[in-house]
Amino acid sequence: MRTLIAYFSRSGNTKKLVDGIKEKLDCDVARIERAVPYSDDYHTCAYVEAKKEAREKVFPEIAPINANFNEYDRILLFFPIWWYTYPMPVATFARLIQNFNGEVLVFANSYTNDPMYMANSMRDLKCVAPRVKFSQGLFNKSLREHINYLIKGE
Ligand SMILES: Cc1cc2nc3c(=O)[nH]c(=O)nc-3n(C[C@H](O)[C@H](O)[C@H](O)COP(=O)(O)O)c2cc1C
Repeated sequence: MRTLIAYFSRSGNTKKLVDGIKEKLDCDVARIERAVPYSDDYHTCAYVEAKKEAREKVFPEIAPINANFNEYDRILLFFPIWWYTYPMPVATFARLIQNFNGEVLVFANSYTNDPMYMANSMRDLKCVAPRVKFSQGLFNKSLREHINYLIKGE
């Protein structure tokens, strides 16, 4: 099974998880990045840029991703929760893969552990790309739990 991990990470938590998974799982990795990076200043990023994007449902341009999605059987999509759902660059990515025929398994992490965050993310992903087969993966789990889940699922 050919697997692509696509992830968004600003402060490195999601990247660290993906790096650990990449060591154990035979897969390619693509990073989702806003074409114009968010401010390095947390407050400006969170309370000005990201908040405005989330509130106004702005789909920011993302940097080109060098992957042919239809070469893959599944995409593992990783991101942190921003303002109770996915960060808007992930919405742009979802639009980009709206014709992907395989399964997209969704993994999220956040500071607090509110299960509504995952539900919101799944709802929003399905709204942006209704043809895509999104399935819920793990929410706020450790690297070990991710590896058990993904290797067992091979
Ligand atoms: C713009 C922004 C919004 C966030 N919103 C939430 C939130 O609604 N709930 C929450 O529990 N954590 C929230 N967080 C915290 C992140 O989800 C958490 O720190 C995550 O692990 C960061 O992942 P990263 O290091 O891969 O960027 C937010 C962080 C940022 C920067």
